[in-house]
Amino acid sequence: MLRVESVTKSFSGFMAVKNANLDVQQGEIVAVIGPNGAGKTTLFNLITGILKPDNGRVFFKDEDITGLPPYEVCKKRISRSFQIVNVFPRLTVFENVQVSVLSQKKKTWNLFTPSNRLVVEETVEILNNVGLIDKKDRTSALLSHGDRKLLEIAIALGGNPEFLILDEPTAGMSPEETSRCIDLIKQLSDKLGLTILFCEHDMELVFAIAQRIMVMVRGTTIIQDTCNEVRCCKEVQDAYLGGSEVCSV
Ligand SMILES: Nc1ncnc2c1ncn2[C@@H]1O[C@H](COP(=O)(O)OP(=O)(O)OP(=O)(O)O)[C@@H](O)[C@H]1O
Ligand SMILES: [Mg+2]
Repeated sequence: MLRVESVTKSFSGFMAVKNANLDVQQGEIVAVIGPNGAGKTTLFNLITGILKPDNGRVFFKDEDITGLPPYEVCKKRISRSFQIVNVFPRLTVFENVQVSVLSQKKKTWNLFTPSNRLVVEETVEILNNVGLIDKKDRTSALLSHGDRKLLEIAIALGGNPEFLILDEPTAGMSPEETSRCIDLIKQLSDKLGLTILFCEHDMELVFAIAQRIMVMVRGTTIIQDTCNEVRCCKEVQDAYLGGSEVCSV
């Protein structure tokens, strides 16, 4: 479904992403892992059009989407959440998701339709899916950090994606919030059939939900394979997991 071929991006001569390769099949959950500064967020920015690669190509469903602006990438039904929470703090939970659904449908508030009647069903369904329906009337700024991260996923779902990209979805969450988020990601894959690409530092989470893992170190893809192959890869152990033996079947 997604194919990233030898993508490179440098900032003032510093190669943040260097010949990175990635492929994701329809229906898969794929994780990108790597130390801080490995280039994971930059890679996601290159896929979603926030940054343009210096070299290399990005294909989605065999269509070349390299360098398309973010709104064009959204139209292809690719949505993402951000590492740093990115919601409208003064809007309610409901309104944040409603705005996202409205923009996907290219509708806006107008004088004749009261805003609280627009895309209500779709918005409620998304809030039910992420478990935020009971908090729909809360001002978003007053949510816990974990709930704000879930709201960001809900906003991404407002774009009606087939392909969802999550940048550290559980960062800063409590253990209970993390376990809720794991259940949510599995449910988005199992029930809604979404294809999911995410990056995460929490290895338990990665091994619990990813079907395949791509490892990035200093901007470069070291390996992309199943969890067990990645666990047993000497290069990964040396470069990323500190050289310790973590291979277990
Ligand atoms: N806009 C930018 N300008 C200059 N350097 C940047 C920019 N964005 C990222 N970098 C640098 O590129 C490298 C990769 O950053 P990136 O944020 O992609 O890493 P990451 O793997 O997401 O790290 P983390 O796990 O800490 O989120 C880092 O050294 C970072 O400082
Ligand atoms: Mg990052």
